[in-house]
Amino acid sequence: MTTVTSDMSVQPGRWPDRLLQFSGVLWFFCAAIGQWIFAYYVAALYIPLLARKGLPGLGDSHLPDGYIPGDALGNLAIAIHVVIAVIIISGGPLQLIPQIRNRFPGFHRLVGRTYMITAVITSAAGLYLVWTRGVVGGQAGHIAISLDAILIISFAAIAVRFAIARKIDQHRRWAMRLFMVVSAVWFFRIGMMFWFMATGGVGIDTETFTGPFITFWYFGQMFVPLIILEIYFRAQDQSGGAPKLAVALLVTLAAGATAIGIFAATMGMWFPRL
Ligand code: HEM
Repeated sequence: MTTVTSDMSVQPGRWPDRLLQFSGVLWFFCAAIGQWIFAYYVAALYIPLLARKGLPGLGDSHLPDGYIPGDALGNLAIAIHVVIAVIIISGGPLQLIPQIRNRFPGFHRLVGRTYMITAVITSAAGLYLVWTRGVVGGQAGHIAISLDAILIISFAAIAVRFAIARKIDQHRRWAMRLFMVVSAVWFFRIGMMFWFMATGGVGIDTETFTGPFITFWYFGQMFVPLIILEIYFRAQDQSGGAPKLAVALLVTLAAGATAIGIFAATMGMWFPRL
């Protein structure tokens, strides 16, 4: 008989279950590597700048408003935002590895609490920055990234409530939804670079960084992964083999697109800045 848990870990019984599980693990494997590369980039870029020159060092980064003289609070918010980003991006994937969760529950709780608290703090800092300094991508960018902050704070609260209530299955599902919305900024970058690689940038005005694709992907960065995750959960809950196979194919394609996007972002955006 097949036992299904709410995360990537289907206890395999039949081959459609095994293929579904395999596709989830494949996607997660690509995502974990991609997030650790992103974490490395953020640490290697910003920590030396801050260590050498303090907050004014942010002015040497590519950020359009990295450092604004006289705006101490905004400069501090950006420094906190990028330093915390390293903890969040590197810690998130660790939480989803069942072997770590099961063998080191104390570590899982510690990383989990840190992840949620820092995600909420950095979202608050991000909200402040968006509405005081702005963000590239025009009005759509402002609204979408603010919505992301609201989703992060809400999903973190729901995941914590289920953990406190010991409803572990629901806690895991909400923790995975949280992981998707926290990772939205990463999805934005890999998705955009995938698009550049695939189409040369159709629907993107590179001068203003606006256009139909940018508007679509600002919202897609959180809703596309969330929708695929919900489809995956539904397939886990299904008893029929055909839906599981269809979803396994979808998730495998998503893993391929993720891997290409990571390659494009690493080679075309992150590494050249270091
Ligand atoms: C919680 C997950 C988040 C992470 C891990 C994260 C990470 C980062 C990183 C690494 C940067 C530096 C950009 C780069 O070098 O590519 C950055 C910039 C920025 N982030 Fe976030 N961020 C998150 C959420 C948010 C949210 C929710 C908001 C807004 C509500 C936000 C607003 C900003 C702003 C305004 C910048 C300045 C750069 C720009 O103009 O794009 N971030 N973030």
